[in-house]
Amino acid sequence: MRIPGRDRTRGRKPPAARPAPRDDAAFVLGFDFDRLPRHVAIIMDGNGRWARRRGLPRVAGHRAGIAAVREALDVSARLGLEALTLYAFSRENWKRPSSEINTLMRLLREYLESEMETLVERNIRFRAIGRLADLPPRVTAALEDAERRTCENTGLVFQIALSYSGRAEIVDAARRLARRVDEGALSPEAIDEDLFASHLYAADVPDPDLLIRTSGEMRVSNFLLWQIAYAEIWVTPVLWPDFRRQQMFEALEDFARRERRFGGVEAGAGGQQRAASAPPSIES
Ligand code: FPP
Repeated sequence: MRIPGRDRTRGRKPPAARPAPRDDAAFVLGFDFDRLPRHVAIIMDGNGRWARRRGLPRVAGHRAGIAAVREALDVSARLGLEALTLYAFSRENWKRPSSEINTLMRLLREYLESEMETLVERNIRFRAIGRLADLPPRVTAALEDAERRTCENTGLVFQIALSYSGRAEIVDAARRLARRVDEGALSPEAIDEDLFASHLYAADVPDPDLLIRTSGEMRVSNFLLWQIAYAEIWVTPVLWPDFRRQQMFEALEDFARRERRFGGVEAGAGGQQRAASAPPSIES
């Protein structure tokens, strides 16, 4: 309904088009959305220390860490990242007390059960990577169910690394290639970096361009060794159960400011920004 005398826009220039919400968010958050990583990988560390500082058993730290998992997943999905990979259980973690391992496995099943509807609704595709045959049958069944129920989703790929080791992943890829050579289906000369990478656990997602580690340790701990060749690394002293969107934004903001050279020279100095390794033909 038009109220007489209330049309204050008459004779004035139309207001400028409102910026897209994404631009507003970029202004508020202070970073450039065009420079977001495609794939973020996270080494979730510090659950045990978080619990110890509170006089609680270690497993209380793992339980508290689930809120941080939800937060990292939510931010990644909202920002439209292509992939998020969380390091939840390494092959080395089998050395931990069986009670801690059992609790971790139970937490994982409970998490998948409670989160399934959200994953489906938010178009998130779930996947587990690692030596999954090592896991208890009830866990593998829950993982397979989650993968099956989200396999048609086209949004964020959400990967959880379980019984995972970067070296074991490389060995597994080498074994697959060796079998093909053995069968006569492949010549050793045909093996190059691209073919090798296509035999890793999740060849369809881009390599992580940002690796986040919590709890201040400066290590890569056998995580995605092949894939992080050119990843930017961001370490926070915050322990995983305290990790929230604020830390995720700090990491993304820091990433957006970095100059990625892939072994070349800075942009504008005649170099090309790429991760390729083939030598071009040069005149010497
Ligand atoms: C490292 O902290 C953390 C882990 C080994 C497990 C991470 C698991 C979760 C956050 C819960 C379940 C995960 C999902 C994806 C639902 P640490 O125990 O090594 O800590 P510390 O170095 O302080 O001892």
